[in-house]
Amino acid sequence: MEIIKTVREMQEISIEQKQKGKNIGFVPTMGYLHEGHLSLIRKAKEMSDIVITSIYVNPTQFAPNEDFSRYPRDFERDKELAEKAGSDFIFYPSDNEMYPNGFDTMVLVDTVTKKFEGEKRPTHFNGVATVVTKLFNAVMPNIAFFGQKDYQQTLVIKKLVEDLLFPISIYIVPTLRQSDGLAMSSRNVYLSTYERTRADIIYRTLITAKEAILKGEKRRKIINAIMLNSLRSEPLVKIDYASAADANDLSEPEEFNSGQLVVLLIAVYIGKTRLIDNMLVTIPQF
Ligand code: PAF
Repeated sequence: MEIIKTVREMQEISIEQKQKGKNIGFVPTMGYLHEGHLSLIRKAKEMSDIVITSIYVNPTQFAPNEDFSRYPRDFERDKELAEKAGSDFIFYPSDNEMYPNGFDTMVLVDTVTKKFEGEKRPTHFNGVATVVTKLFNAVMPNIAFFGQKDYQQTLVIKKLVEDLLFPISIYIVPTLRQSDGLAMSSRNVYLSTYERTRADIIYRTLITAKEAILKGEKRRKIINAIMLNSLRSEPLVKIDYASAADANDLSEPEEFNSGQLVVLLIAVYIGKTRLIDNMLVTIPQF
């Protein structure tokens, strides 16, 4: 596996691989890889000839009060894990390579970034859309893999690709979970041992709401109330949001229709650690 640090070299390699007829799969990450990332790399290996993983903690998607400086980093460990999972290259640019002096352009995806994560973290998706655009231009993949755990991010990326005409397919990989249901996330390392034992409330809440829907509940406010009540049963939890929305455009009707695909979205603090999760449910036909 090769480590590539400059955009120019990354582009040259991708052009060369494409000239050889190879199909490039791309897994963008911020490093500190866990099983969730590795499942993306394995899926990329299965679906493409060459796998490129990027490791870059993108400063523009963190607000000044967020955890950019303490975001966990361990490049040596990431290198080994990525190689074992099947990555052929790691793109590992510096801040200067991604945002050189004079950098002055941001990418804004408008409507789908207004609610939920976008409301709580107003500059976050501009940073994501900008860095993903740059990573796509550096790596030039045929197909890019993203985790369902960042559900709203997957909608933002799909819109970005459609609107800016990137010739790239987007493949969403289901969330990997610990045995108690906690979604894998690099931020789980922030949890204390006690907080970790309580964090399963997020998954349990999603399951409770899903069961209510499958028994016939279609009223959005009632579904939201079921999630809020469940989360409030755990004193360590501070709720950012817990909402049901249309899975395609995040619209919030009074009542969902039979057959409609709904996403249950949760963002909470467990102690000082902010965690997000989601679950897809189809409203039953009865
Ligand atoms: O999902 C992430 O890890 C990041 O938001 C991404 C897509 C790598 C952009 O920095």
